[in-house]
Amino acid sequence: MPERSRNVTSNQPGPHQDLSRRVARALTHPLRKPLAEHTRETFAAADAWRVERGDRPLILDAGCGVGLSTRQLAERHPESTVLGIDRSADRLSRDHGPLPDNARLVRADLVDFWRLALAGGWRPVRHYLLYPNPYPKSAHLKMRWQGHPVFPVILALGGRLELRSNWRLYVEEFALAVEQVTGDRAPVTGFEPGGDFLTPFERKYHHSGQLLWRLGVELPHRPDLVPDA
Ligand SMILES: C[S@@+](CC[C@H](N)C(=O)[O-])C[C@H]1O[C@@H](n2cnc3c(N)ncnc32)[C@H](O)[C@@H]1O
Repeated sequence: MPERSRNVTSNQPGPHQDLSRRVARALTHPLRKPLAEHTRETFAAADAWRVERGDRPLILDAGCGVGLSTRQLAERHPESTVLGIDRSADRLSRDHGPLPDNARLVRADLVDFWRLALAGGWRPVRHYLLYPNPYPKSAHLKMRWQGHPVFPVILALGGRLELRSNWRLYVEEFALAVEQVTGDRAPVTGFEPGGDFLTPFERKYHHSGQLLWRLGVELPHRPDLVPDA
């Protein structure tokens, strides 16, 4: 029996009225949350592995869940180094067999990991945000990546950023936030996975009859987007 999931419901009729103010704030106010020591250690280990693998294209799967997308990306891009990052030990511990040699799963909070990656000079060629938690209540805007103070860091890393969600408004808000920062409007498109699912959430939403939305944008590496602490 396939897992079912309900459509996202929100008390927001359209893009959040505070989005632009929050993006502007993130661009001018440094994120002061201290970096967790354990994330520094996790990052250092991931960075050592990346360096050990030589100068290969880097792909980030941010919020990778159980890591099935990380595996697929590693198989599709054997020349690359692929890192799946998620804060959930439970999800990361699900056994889906050995990972390809060019992939690793890392347990970390992205808010810290992204900042360390930018400070460490990482330049992903591809960066995936696949089905982030939608936080659909209007009061939770600041928990969506486009309303979070870490948003400029996500864009500053650069590369081809791909966001997918079953909530169209999430992707539309993200597109507005990208436009506010870069001046470029990335198109939001519906898509049909056609049985070729990149993630378990993608499969679940599709099998529940939900529409899927995505945005892809090519970003330059722009550390200057992040305000100095
Ligand atoms: C809805 S799930 C999607 C998982 C996977 N991408 C998929 O499509 O199957 C969202 C994932 O984001 C992770 N996540 C949310 N906030 C995070 C954070 N701050 N740092 C790391 N992972 C986070 C959660 O643990 C969860 O696994």
